[in-house]
Order: sequence, then structure tokens, then C-alpha cells
Amino acid sequence: MAIRLGDTAPDFSAETSEGSVNFHEWAGDSWVVLFSHPKDFTPVCTTELGMVAKLKDEFAKRNAKVIALSVDPVDSHKNWIGDINETQSTSVNYPIIADPDRKVADLYDMIHPNADNTLTVRSVFIIDPNKKVRLTLTYPAATGRNFDELLRVIDSLQLTDNFSVATPANWKHGEDVVVSPAITDPAVIAEKFPKGVTELKPYLRMTPQPNAD
Ligand code: BEZ
Repeated sequence: MAIRLGDTAPDFSAETSEGSVNFHEWAGDSWVVLFSHPKDFTPVCTTELGMVAKLKDEFAKRNAKVIALSVDPVDSHKNWIGDINETQSTSVNYPIIADPDRKVADLYDMIHPNADNTLTVRSVFIIDPNKKVRLTLTYPAATGRNFDELLRVIDSLQLTDNFSVATPANWKHGEDVVVSPAITDPAVIAEKFPKGVTELKPYLRMTPQPNAD
């Protein structure tokens, strides 16, 4: 069954390129980006996994860990990591789940039979420290993902969890945000948004990002 926003991320144990992992234990109190790719030793996947290695510090700054998955076995992952490191000038520094029996892929509905009967599609799940699924995303095999976008979503989720705001189209850290429509009391608005509020429409009120310099 498909996983929906707000669901508890299913737990599992699996072999990875960095040893055995119990998913919830491994996640601990961090945010998690769990992403699947179709197959080892394929070109787009090679660039994706290299890019994620380069961005690991950016994920870590946001208290987020990354973990990849494909239906290939662990020996294959380990051999392929050499190619990723060589061709992408990086060092893969996060686990890749080996899922040859598709246990995790089935749990997370990562195989879409009308796209491919056996290989995982490019799924992404962003999971918060309470193990709740906060984003799901599915890309086709031939389209590499934009991992800057995943960082942007984590920024938005963390901001909107902590302040009474939402983030507008194409928002990036440091830009103005939307005041939550649920807040209508002028005294509360003044207290929560000391940087000021611009009312474009009663339902569209902008304020500088509360936690930006
Ligand atoms: C790739 O990673 O390049 C890829 C994987 C499966 C199908 C098409 C492309």
C-alpha cells in the first residue's frame, strides 16, 4: 500500500554497504532522506549518488541523514561505490541498502509495475525525527533528481514546524514567507512577527523569514 504524508515510516532491518541497519534505530533523532534508485552501475544513478555524497554536510547541517536503496545485493553496491567515487570525484559516505528480495521496496511501494516490474523507481521519502513521513516524491528512471530541492524542502519543513508560517513558490532560505492563515488576532501577529507583516490580501500576508538574519 502506498505511503502517505503523516504515516509512520515503516521500520525494517536490512544489509547495507555499511553493515546491518535497523532503520528506526539508525535514524535516531535525525531527519532522514530515504531514496531509491533503479539499479547499480547505471549512469544517472551514479551521478545521483555522487551528488548526495557531496551534499552530505548540507544534510547534516539540517540534522538530516541520507540512505539510498536499490534491489541489488551488497557486494554489487560495494563494487559500484568505487566507480561512483572515481567518476564523481567524491567518497560515498552514507549507507546504500541492499534489497535483493525487495522487502523494503515492497514496504515503501518503490516498485511501480507499469514502469518496471522488477526495478525500484526513483522514490524519495523525507521522514522527521518522530518517524513521520513528511514528503514523498517519485521520479522516472531516466530523470535524475534535484537534491538541492530536497534540502530546500527540509528547510521549509523545519521552518514551518517552528514558526506559524508557510513558504511560497520557489522559496529559498532567507526569503519572505507567508503568515499562516490560521493566525488572525492582531496582537498575536505583532508578537509572532516583530519584523512586520505586509498584507497583500487578507489571506495573503508576507513577513520576513522569522529566523533569518
Ligand atoms: C540510470 O541510472 O541511468 C538509469 C537507470 C535505469 C533506467 C534508465 C536509466
